[in-house]
Amino acid sequence: MTMRVVTAWETALSEADHAALSALLQAAFPGPEFAPDRSWPASWARKQARIWLADADGTPLAHLGIERRLAGTESGEVLIAGVGDVAVAPSHHGTGLGAELMRALDAHLRGGPFAADFGFLQCREAVAGFYARTGWTAVANPTRHLAVSDARTVREGHWPTFVRPGRRPLTDWPPGLIDLRGLPW
Ligand SMILES: CC(C)(COP(=O)(O)OP(=O)(O)OC[C@H]1O[C@@H](n2cnc3c(N)ncnc32)[C@H](O)[C@@H]1OP(=O)(O)O)[C@@H](O)C(=O)NCCC(=O)NCCS
Repeated sequence: MTMRVVTAWETALSEADHAALSALLQAAFPGPEFAPDRSWPASWARKQARIWLADADGTPLAHLGIERRLAGTESGEVLIAGVGDVAVAPSHHGTGLGAELMRALDAHLRGGPFAADFGFLQCREAVAGFYARTGWTAVANPTRHLAVSDARTVREGHWPTFVRPGRRPLTDWPPGLIDLRGLPW
């Protein structure tokens, strides 16, 4: 299947884009996080931009959101692109679209308006294997963020965390605590 890569700033999404993306996201994440008129998560960090793969009819079948942020580390700040809302239409799971989406992300991490030093992602254990197979590298850093339950309690701990090279090589990834300075993605 030939897929078209679409990239858009959050602020440039049309109502039709939101409707099509929320259909995909609700199917991939059943529950209250996404709604028919809301293609962004209710509790997690709002993204700055979206990258998705659309079929010949323009229907989005794979999607991710990114937000660039200066994270705090013990050796200074690092510009990361937090990635979240990674979703493939359930009808297309296991057909390689998730991997294709991650390849599309790479070009944007290295140059252009979404570029960052590293891609950054945290996930449930159940999907860690997917990221390990699609170009992400697991790291052992503890992280600090605001709890999604109230957006104000500071939490620190270890969660499955992956990084991906952008403008800098993975050998530059710092050790120690990564302070996300806000909600996680
Ligand atoms: C996780 C998800 C994005 C994977 O997308 P996909 O298009 O089915 O994945 P692909 O077909 O591109 O698979 C790429 C590789 O990852 C592997 N993989 C896919 N899902 C996996 C999983 N849950 N656990 C371990 N490996 C997985 C595939 O076997 C394949 O491996 P291979 O290269 O050795 O053949 C998709 O299942 C999804 O949307 N799930 C629901 C939403 C979700 O949980 N998103 C992640 C939130 S953090």
